Amino acid sequence: MNKATIPAAQKTCLSLLLDDHRKVKKLFREFESVKDDTRKEAIVREACMELTVHTQIEEELLYPALQEANHEAFGDMVDEAVVEHAGAKNLIAELESMKPGDDLYDAKFTVLAEYIEHHVKEEEEDLFPKVIRKKIDLQEVGAMMVERKEALMSEAMA
Ligand SMILES: [Fe+2]
Ligand SMILES: [Fe+2]
Repeated sequence: MNKATIPAAQKTCLSLLLDDHRKVKKLFREFESVKDDTRKEAIVREACMELTVHTQIEEELLYPALQEANHEAFGDMVDEAVVEHAGAKNLIAELESMKPGDDLYDAKFTVLAEYIEHHVKEEEEDLFPKVIRKKIDLQEVGAMMVERKEALMSEAMA
């Protein structure tokens, strides 16, 4: 999905989410080639933090706004997204209590990356284009997301 083509009504909201998607995908790719445990752990921690904040703002702000705007169009899609998030959150919780070298550490992060790649593909190829097609006004939601993300990131890094 190309940020430049997003209409004004969805721009702030979807651009923020697309940037997050790009950022974690980059971390997933880096993890594939990294050998050093310290860097590995840093990648896992950063990706888990980013994903925790990202899924939270989607669940708090975007998904309810879509269901409220048009339940028929978005009800099932959003329900599935929430279930996909829950699967990712389980792996994140497990990874947060582990360290590199532990049994299944690499496997859990690799499977998390696969879950997220799949989920991001659905958002960018199905959900977000539908939001634009249905002309859902997300200007207020976008502004709230920017603020909420800032607050959650500074909490997470404190
Ligand atoms: Fe997302
Ligand atoms: Fe999502």
